[in-house]
Amino acid sequence: MTRPSTEPGAELFADDKAARALEAVYLTGDLIAQRDAVMRALAPRLGESIADIGCGPGLLALDIAEAVGPQGRVLGVDASAAMVAIANRRCAAGGNVTVEVADAVRLPGGDAMFDALVCTQVLEYVPDVPAALREFLRLLRPGGRLLLMDTDWESCVWHSSDRARMRQMIDAWDNHCTHPQLPRTLVTMLAETGFAAPRVEVHALVTHTRNADTFARAMEDTLSRHAVRTGQVDADTASAWRRDLESLDTAGQYFFSLNRYVFHARRP
Ligand SMILES: C[S@@+](CC[C@H](N)C(=O)[O-])C[C@H]1O[C@@H](n2cnc3c(N)ncnc32)[C@H](O)[C@@H]1O
Repeated sequence: MTRPSTEPGAELFADDKAARALEAVYLTGDLIAQRDAVMRALAPRLGESIADIGCGPGLLALDIAEAVGPQGRVLGVDASAAMVAIANRRCAAGGNVTVEVADAVRLPGGDAMFDALVCTQVLEYVPDVPAALREFLRLLRPGGRLLLMDTDWESCVWHSSDRARMRQMIDAWDNHCTHPQLPRTLVTMLAETGFAAPRVEVHALVTHTRNADTFARAMEDTLSRHAVRTGQVDADTASAWRRDLESLDTAGQYFFSLNRYVFHARRP
């Protein structure tokens, strides 16, 4: 990481092993569908300049680069050097993508340089969200589009035969980031920063099977490791939680749903 502006969650992105684990989650069918939804919402056009803040392994940056074509350009930034290395390898061939290490609160680039800016699943990790939003406003040209996506795990419905234990596991995940309930205040923050026409919609991750191609299945491991490592849950409880999910799936009773909130706004 460049500097510890990102506190909780930094270990999820810091080194190559962590970055590759996250990349594997992003290659599940659920998150491919999520990127497709982000692309439809962002609607990149040929020749546009677009910034992807907290670009992670560069999967979205690459999709945007293909959409804006050789006359367009994409800047990806991420606070994790390990993520930037993966994103650079992924995006190098296209020639219209630059990926750099930078913090969302101090971004490279001059004022009004971009037609659009996208930042998905990042702001919840950034301690000073208003400072990041001010940077986004600065980088966008007048009329430029902003697209944010963030999650509130209080929107999670995950069927369990032990609701108290499920609650314990989901609550233990809350402190993996700085702002676990950020979406409910983001529209206000966007308006206060000076963005025009902020609005929100939902992208739901929902499944009734526990198969390897789902976000929920991929997150079982991440959630239990975090809960046990931070001492919020003991290893036996985490194992029992996973066995229960497996039994429910075998019985045809598995259900998972989680809301991602998608925010649109414009620079006036
Ligand atoms: C959950 S991942 C999301 C990656 C990507 N945007 C996506 O949706 O596929 C969060 C990413 O934000 C980056 N990040 C966290 N805090 C940041 C900050 N303050 N500035 C820039 N990037 C940050 C992390 O390194 C990580 O790659």
